[in-house]
Amino acid sequence: MSAHSEAGVVVARLAEVAEGFPLAVTLPDGTPVCLVRDGDAVHAVEDRCPHRDFPLSGGDVVAPCVLECPWHGARFDARTGACLAGPATDAIGTWSVVIADGAVYLGARRAPVEPAA
Ligand code: FES
Repeated sequence: MSAHSEAGVVVARLAEVAEGFPLAVTLPDGTPVCLVRDGDAVHAVEDRCPHRDFPLSGGDVVAPCVLECPWHGARFDARTGACLAGPATDAIGTWSVVIADGAVYLGARRAPVEPAA
């Protein structure tokens, strides 16, 4: 699914993003994105673990908004992209998300957050 509007690019229907199950989608430019359901909201993060570049979408949502990499267990905050547990150390990028008419729109890509000093 891919359609453009002022809100961004449609990447999925909200009903397709199940609570507790990451969903892999692809932007029109081929960028892989992982969607994580959060009640009536959805968070969008890079579908690439900075530890070994494997996809995160095969992982689990182990706590609200906490995405765990299926390969070696690194954890990320799906809201901010912050790395919460290793072996990864870097944060991942995120996108602004708008839900409208049951569709999930991705807007601007946000840079990874740096850990608090
Ligand atoms: S590839 Fe994700 S923790 Fe190693």
